[in-house]
Amino acid sequence: MIFTVAIDGPAAAGKGTISRAVAARFGFAHLDTGLLYRAVGAKGGDPVAAARGLTEADLARDDLRTLAAGQAASKVAAVPAVRAALVEFQRRFARRNGGAVLDGRDIGTVICPDAAVKLYVTASPETRAHRRWLELGGDAAQVLAEVLERDARDMGRADAPLRPAEDAVVLDTTDMTIDAAVARAVAVIDARLAARGQG
Ligand code: C5P
Repeated sequence: MIFTVAIDGPAAAGKGTISRAVAARFGFAHLDTGLLYRAVGAKGGDPVAAARGLTEADLARDDLRTLAAGQAASKVAAVPAVRAALVEFQRRFARRNGGAVLDGRDIGTVICPDAAVKLYVTASPETRAHRRWLELGGDAAQVLAEVLERDARDMGRADAPLRPAEDAVVLDTTDMTIDAAVARAVAVIDARLAARGQG
């Protein structure tokens, strides 16, 4: 069975947690596509060469979750040739047998426009910055500034800007517990599987 779940949205909206939970719930494989851009940014040097030569080992680095790695990622992610170099890998993953969840910024709009389920997970910038601060610590005002800066870069770029696909279900997690957000995502996927006769 090919069944792709595309989960997009801005940084720290809850995409990662929701993606991991629904992948575990349905037995789907999960790809955090932000990690690809983080790994390219962390390699340094020519980002296009880094994207073309990306290996599993690059994705296993333990310094990819920092604020600095997020900023570096969103800079290389604005380079069209970097994005182009990563398309095939993501599409192959999405079409693997048994179902796949991909989370990122352009999964429902560019990578998998035919995904069976598209979710756009968002929350207010203040809420997202607070969550990031709880996770990483540091100066709260600076964390908010970095969230806003990354939003502006991801939404403002010419190639594959962050935006909800027209047929995406929008999930605003500002005032939602993570359990409620996961339950809502599971309900959307269940309904789609049932409509396909696979529920
Ligand atoms: O999701 P995460 O915060 O790890 O993503 C890091 C950066 O990678 C994002 O700010 C964005 O610029 C870029 N990205 C992207 N397209 C994706 C996933 C991530 O441009 N599908």
